[in-house]
Amino acid sequence: MSGLRPVTVVTGASAGIGAALARVFARHCHALALVARREDRLRMLADEIVAGGGVRPLVIGADLQRPDSVRAVADALAAQGVEPQYMVNNAGFGLVGHAAALDRAEQMAMIDLNMRTLAGLSLAFVDSLARHKGGILNVGSMAGFLPGPGMTVYYATKAFVLSFSEALHSELKPRGVRVTVLCPGPVPTEFGQRAGLSGRSLSPEILTQSAEQVAEAGYRGLMQGRRTVVPGLVNKAVVTAIRFVPRRALLALLDARQRRRMSAPRT
Ligand SMILES: NC(=O)c1ccc[n+]([C@@H]2O[C@H](COP(=O)([O-])OP(=O)(O)OC[C@H]3O[C@@H](n4cnc5c(N)ncnc54)[C@H](OP(=O)(O)O)[C@@H]3O)[C@@H](O)[C@H]2O)c1
Repeated sequence: MSGLRPVTVVTGASAGIGAALARVFARHCHALALVARREDRLRMLADEIVAGGGVRPLVIGADLQRPDSVRAVADALAAQGVEPQYMVNNAGFGLVGHAAALDRAEQMAMIDLNMRTLAGLSLAFVDSLARHKGGILNVGSMAGFLPGPGMTVYYATKAFVLSFSEALHSELKPRGVRVTVLCPGPVPTEFGQRAGLSGRSLSPEILTQSAEQVAEAGYRGLMQGRRTVVPGLVNKAVVTAIRFVPRRALLALLDARQRRRMSAPRT
């Protein structure tokens, strides 16, 4: 034993799905370390968790797009005398528009956050995850099952998250470390605004779920040792159906949807 106290680390806990995941873990009596850039938001969430009877979460302000961010998180945890039992890699963003027209540096930063840091944080703490019989919950997306014209780089990052997490699930199973990839459909959060979709609908209503529903499903799936969690019955059916649709037809469908979305009036 290392003598360090176990915590659940949640990245991107200052908003949306990450904040909902932090609340679910807190409700199940996990000690938390909350990570994001907006520390004021993390402190408010920490206060809320304490007011609800939970242990005060640690707050770690970090920009996870930076190449040294895994080291920064590891140092911050060690300085507080804690180590991860569960690693929840949720922080991420997307951008809407044609890849060749969008800002290239921003798209590279998306790759750094959604893929590089997620992989780094998944691999950095395997020994402590094994010691505490814990696991990794990586937030992917239904987008990971598809090519995504109009959000090309984002969809590709989520395909990486899906493939990486599923393979890691197999590799770490013998060590008793659970790895689950959570693949939500559309969730009303700040994601759409950050992606440049403000005022336009993200996707069909029928696939939409709340951050709370998605977080509950992710927590349950991780604790049950499931490899992949697609929250929602319709969403599950869509993911299954995608396997049988030829790639060319899928691309044509997604292209048309993207054109409709971008020409829709802002509300
Ligand atoms: N909303 C959806 O429809 C949807 C669907 C499927 C999957 N997802 C995935 O779910 C995850 C959470 O998205 P969300 O919908 O909850 O979006 P959100 O409301 O925009 O929250 C994103 C979170 O990520 C954090 N983050 C962004 N850039 C960061 C950086 N450079 N360093 C540290 N933290 C950073 C943000 O914190 P700060 O800004 O404070 O740093 C925030 O806490 C993402 O991985 C997203 O791809 C979302």
